[in-house]
Amino acid sequence: SLAMNPVQRPEMFIIGAQPVCSQLPGLSPGQRKLCQLYQEHMAYIGEGAKTGIKECQYQFRQRRWNCSTVDNTSVFGRVMQIGSRETAFAYAVSAAGVVHAVSRACREGELSTCGCSRAARPRDLPRDWLWGGCGDNVDYGYRFAKEFVDAREREKSFAKGSEAQGRVLMNLQNNEAGRRAVYKMADVACKCHGVSGSCSLKTCWLQLAEFRKVGDQLKEKYDSAAAMRISRRGKLELVNSRFNQPTPEDLVYVDPSPDYCLRNETTGSLGTQGRLCNKTSEGMDGCELLCCGRGYDRFQSVQVERCHCRFHWCCFVRCRKCAQVVDQHVCK
Ligand SMILES: *[C@@H]1O[C@H](CO)[C@@H](O)[C@H](O)[C@H]1NC(C)=O
Ligand SMILES: *[C@@H]1O[C@H](CO)[C@@H](O)[C@H](O)[C@H]1NC(C)=O
Ligand SMILES: *[C@@H]1O[C@H](CO)[C@@H](O)[C@H](O)[C@H]1NC(C)=O
Ligand SMILES: *[C@@H]1O[C@H](CO)[C@@H](O)[C@H](O)[C@H]1NC(C)=O
Repeated sequence: SLAMNPVQRPEMFIIGAQPVCSQLPGLSPGQRKLCQLYQEHMAYIGEGAKTGIKECQYQFRQRRWNCSTVDNTSVFGRVMQIGSRETAFAYAVSAAGVVHAVSRACREGELSTCGCSRAARPRDLPRDWLWGGCGDNVDYGYRFAKEFVDAREREKSFAKGSEAQGRVLMNLQNNEAGRRAVYKMADVACKCHGVSGSCSLKTCWLQLAEFRKVGDQLKEKYDSAAAMRISRRGKLELVNSRFNQPTPEDLVYVDPSPDYCLRNETTGSLGTQGRLCNKTSEGMDGCELLCCGRGYDRFQSVQVERCHCRFHWCCFVRCRKCAQVVDQHVCK
């Protein structure tokens, strides 16, 4: 919800004014309290969630579930009531987005409670390179996201061993996997100094990976997500004990996925009618699979592309624009 109701920029907040937090939709009671304590963080949580959603829509652009739903109050909507693999991914990528945005906000001096990363100098950094550029504060981002994002799970009540507990444990595990992906992928970045770019001196710092890489990684985790169930003792256990126990970096799910083929107001699935598909692909984006065997319609569209590009000395490329009629297909 925070991603869809852009919070005003932090400088717009009036110190001590509380109404902002009570007006934000979708917060749990605990998150509302955290909002009051950390008002200036809210814009970045919203930004992070939005980054996560955009990444989700990119990663799933060619699949039946394309990471958007019928529901207009939240992007993910009711599809999230099912504890499916897709829900697992959505939780993980949103949590990851929050870590990413908050870590970066610290580095940019936007938050009063954190600053540049204080990560220790990596041991394998060459001795004559300087460690100390202002890095992304991924320690802070991780800790803050854990407190804020997990708050809503921690305040749910459930009976031990119940389905409700299974969902809470699933969500917590997937939130953690998302946060860890950002944390683990942060890496050393360096910049050269020295006379006329000789690079005799290097300054290095900790830098977040591009979010696309985090998304790719989480997509792999989605593909290998583990099917779990809640045990009577109140722990998640593998449905098939021959598989490997998931690590904290892995995604888990407790329900099978719906097929996402037809629009269904109850589940929040949009269905695939009207989706563009690829006639020649045998993959998930191919018309056969994407349209769930319902068939497809062909139409023609004009695409304008850059063409006849020529290199001019020195140094630019000039192109012409060419229009091309291409066949496209949409699911019935
Ligand atoms: C969602 O959109 C529908 C139709 O556009 C509208 O009737 C409904 O009130 C909206 N729901 C919310 C919660 O905004
Ligand atoms: C929507 O999904 C629910 C749950 O899977 C199912 O019971 C119902 O029949 C579906 N409705 C339609 C119109 O397909
Ligand atoms: C997802 O698919 C629906 C149609 O099923 C479409 O309306 C929507 O724009 C798509 N979303 C994205 C982000 O591509
Ligand atoms: C459609 O699928 C084929 C085969 O996988 C691929 O070569 C082609 O680039 C795809 N076309 C588009 C527009 O994605």
